[in-house]
Amino acid sequence: MNLSPRLKRIADFVPNNSIVADVGTDHGYVPKYLIDKGISKLVIATDISKGSLQKTVDYIREENLEEEITTRLGDGLEPILPFEVDTLIIAGMGGLLIAEIMSKFKETSRSINTLILQPMVGSPELRKYLLQNHFRIVDEDLVREGDKFYEIIVAKTGLQKFDKELDYEISPVMLKKNSPVLREFVEIKIKMNESVIEKLRNSTGEKSMSRLLELEKIVKDYREVFSK
Ligand SMILES: C[S@@+](CC[C@H](N)C(=O)[O-])C[C@H]1O[C@@H](n2cnc3c(N)ncnc32)[C@H](O)[C@@H]1O
Repeated sequence: MNLSPRLKRIADFVPNNSIVADVGTDHGYVPKYLIDKGISKLVIATDISKGSLQKTVDYIREENLEEEITTRLGDGLEPILPFEVDTLIIAGMGGLLIAEIMSKFKETSRSINTLILQPMVGSPELRKYLLQNHFRIVDEDLVREGDKFYEIIVAKTGLQKFDKELDYEISPVMLKKNSPVLREFVEIKIKMNESVIEKLRNSTGEKSMSRLLELEKIVKDYREVFSK
């Protein structure tokens, strides 16, 4: 089966011989790919929605993969025991929701060796959560599908410090890769921030002012990164 570029890149980060939890699996495409390619020995596919999980249940039954892929209904990491899996995938959710799931089920999230996280929004907030909670970002990638960009963050437990606010927007590991889509991604980010800055200029209040200054600094830093 052919995965979309986003899902393929997520699957590429999964270590060989892994036991994986795919939380919020929905369609179950990644679990099937991991088993088909012999990357994983066992995948636990979970979802909070009965309807979504049913898609995976039906799919793996059709594909005869019921021994290798287990399905479990539940919120976040609730259906997974600490140390039950070595790799975690949480993809296609907001960064704050991903952080909330990790924080709600700390014992399990800290017992996992490799966390592959793909936030749809709120990636800076997720990076902040990771570093503030003794996780380190070991790898990242940026995938483009049509006009959409997807950030994939790979984390492990450990300590890491970022020097500046911009590191939470574009992590140093991503910057080092100098990926061809990064510049385009940053240009879009600058445009989005500039439109928020314009709106904030017309508002009053301490909060708006401090957000305005913060965004102006981020835009300046973005520009500096690529002018070097
Ligand atoms: C947009 S889909 C993403 C599906 C797949 N992971 C992907 O990246 O293509 C999000 C899925 O996450 C599930 N979900 C949302 N909140 C969840 C939670 N707290 N725990 C488990 N699954 C959740 C939804 O039911 C939905 O099936």
